[in-house]
Amino acid sequence: MSRIDRKELFNTATDWTREAGEYIRKKMKESFSVNTKSNQDDLVTDVDKGVENFFEQKLSDKLPDHTLMGEEGTAESVKNLDGTVWILDPIDGTMNFVHQESFFAVSLGIFENGEGIIGIVYDVMNDEMFSCLKGEGAYVNGRKLPELKEVPVHESILSFNSGWILKDRRLEKLVKESRGTRSYGSAALELAYVAAGRLDAYISFNLAPWDIAGGYVLIKEVGSTVTNYEGKDLDFLNKGTLLAANPYIHNNILSLIHEYDQ
Ligand code: IPD
Ligand code: CA
Ligand code: CA
Repeated sequence: MSRIDRKELFNTATDWTREAGEYIRKKMKESFSVNTKSNQDDLVTDVDKGVENFFEQKLSDKLPDHTLMGEEGTAESVKNLDGTVWILDPIDGTMNFVHQESFFAVSLGIFENGEGIIGIVYDVMNDEMFSCLKGEGAYVNGRKLPELKEVPVHESILSFNSGWILKDRRLEKLVKESRGTRSYGSAALELAYVAAGRLDAYISFNLAPWDIAGGYVLIKEVGSTVTNYEGKDLDFLNKGTLLAANPYIHNNILSLIHEYDQ
């Protein structure tokens, strides 16, 4: 399978993601080892690595001209988005995986020469797969995601890690204004929820390309708006900030946050 059209690529990617999910569920019933990375709260398990190895092996067997850019090692050698690049977070929400045994996802965005064409976020324990092929609509378990409705900020549900308020006190204003806040601990799921209209916005100050690639493609497909915290385009080769929102409130949120700048 060296030459592949987009539809076939989409089917292959969703099949492999489901297979990765089965592997994760199996490992959860057996045993896995937990280690730390950059600090004591930055967790990684042999399952994260196992999922990345699984995709690496599949690609080298079936699609050797595609590039894997995964969190657990393969991203290190990727310096540009030329060709077809699979941006993979083998487990997004590893802390949830270890401590809560739920609310984590396999996140995959496939980019062609820098353009996101396939987005997949698979909630492994709920067996809920958000997926899209650019131009063909976004789906959750085969059901088309509905068009997003207009929502005012005072009726919106926002999601972000509560710790971000310590970093930017301007968020307090947004919290007061909104209907309520949530924090799920998986950027990929939170982005998928924005795409599905379950959340109206998601904010973060420190995300890597693999945290956001799958959700980004989903969000674009449903016509939502996703930028960094300054309202600028995202960079899929570096870490950065993020503001993903219902298209009707993205600008209002930016204005509220930046009202008192300078
Ligand atoms: C993390 C999750 C979390 C977000 C962190 C990410 P990981 O990914 O998406 O929700 O707040 O910034 O690093 O480490 O579980 O893959
Ligand atoms: Ca992640
Ligand atoms: Ca991860």
